[in-house]
Amino acid sequence: MSEAMEVDIADLPGVGPATKAKLESGGISTILDLAAATTNELVDNLNLTEETAHNLVFEAQKLLKDRGYLEKDLVSAQELFTRRAKMLRCTTFSKNLDGLLAGGIETQSVTEFYGEFGSGKTQICHNECVAAQLPVEQGGLGGNALYIDTESTFRPERIAQIAKGHGMEVESVLSNIHVAKIYNSSHLELIVRAMGGLIQQNHIKLVIVDSIISLHRAEFLGRGTLSERQQKLNAIMHRLKRVAEIFNIAVIITNQVQASPDTFFGDPTKAAGGNIIGHASTYRIYLRKAGQERKAIMIDSPMHPYGDTNFVVTEGGITDPAEGGGSKKSANTTSSAASSARSASKSSPKTQKASEESEEATTSS
Ligand code: GTP
Ligand code: MG
Repeated sequence: MSEAMEVDIADLPGVGPATKAKLESGGISTILDLAAATTNELVDNLNLTEETAHNLVFEAQKLLKDRGYLEKDLVSAQELFTRRAKMLRCTTFSKNLDGLLAGGIETQSVTEFYGEFGSGKTQICHNECVAAQLPVEQGGLGGNALYIDTESTFRPERIAQIAKGHGMEVESVLSNIHVAKIYNSSHLELIVRAMGGLIQQNHIKLVIVDSIISLHRAEFLGRGTLSERQQKLNAIMHRLKRVAEIFNIAVIITNQVQASPDTFFGDPTKAAGGNIIGHASTYRIYLRKAGQERKAIMIDSPMHPYGDTNFVVTEGGITDPAEGGGSKKSANTTSSAASSARSASKSSPKTQKASEESEEATTSS
């Protein structure tokens, strides 16, 4: 990775000092940031022509592909296998949840937790900031965490409790979590754009965005702004996915729920943000309160079987329910909870769009 960092952005074909300065003004200071950018984003934010923007991203990606940091357009299954072999899994401290995730939260992927208020999304994020710091042999990622907090719900006291609960040194755990407090959607877009440098300088192995949609949802009101909002969310998701892949890090995002008026059976809620977020998340997990426990349901995954399981939130973080204290379903069974939640999330693109617009109408009224 350091080799790619050694290449100055001005060494790319077509990048002179003026372009370099322009890119830096938009938070893009490394080849890695540029490779993870989208053409539209550069055109919109840096006033570059479409052709220039396209060429810049292309050249940066080409360099990373040539040096083996990014997947080539055509790769052999063997190369993919080798790459996947470098993938790490971060424990959740809950055997049930680790089982549902086939071992834990994966690097090279974006894992989305969505659910109603109080369902445990932020608690899982805090928990993972601690877990990620464990050495790889102990189920961690052996690195630090970047917590992008858009709802002002990050609490160092919770981190201290969780670290203590696992016998870790509180001060060192706290100092290895870098928190970015975000106040508006442009600020979120900016930090996501400039993330490559932050990740490298701070030995980040886990990036958290809690939550991905709240600011855009609050700022882009009214039917007329829906496509602009979706385009911006798309750029953020695209960037997060690329960064996960380039740096072999885990990315966790949280998402809110919205009512799904077209659901006649099962749970009438689904993740907010429409197809843009759903398609870009590698794994989607729906969280629901279940009495004193929480239920986690695997909604979408290219490799995990559908299933659900229960966990609890305690002072010491996420853990399994006490023996006999509630249902502990095997993560591999398709329960009615999993299938009804899935049917709510799998409405056709047409109905999904319609319900996004109805969300829009509700929000703006
Ligand atoms: P929103 O951000 O509002 O959408 O919700 P969320 O899904 O992020 O909720 P969050 O993860 O913040 O969960 C809050 C819930 O976690 C609380 O209602 C408590 O039930 C539980 N919780 C938080 N801290 C503690 C704790 O120290 N001990 C215990 N036992 N439970 C806790
Ligand atoms: Mg929260």
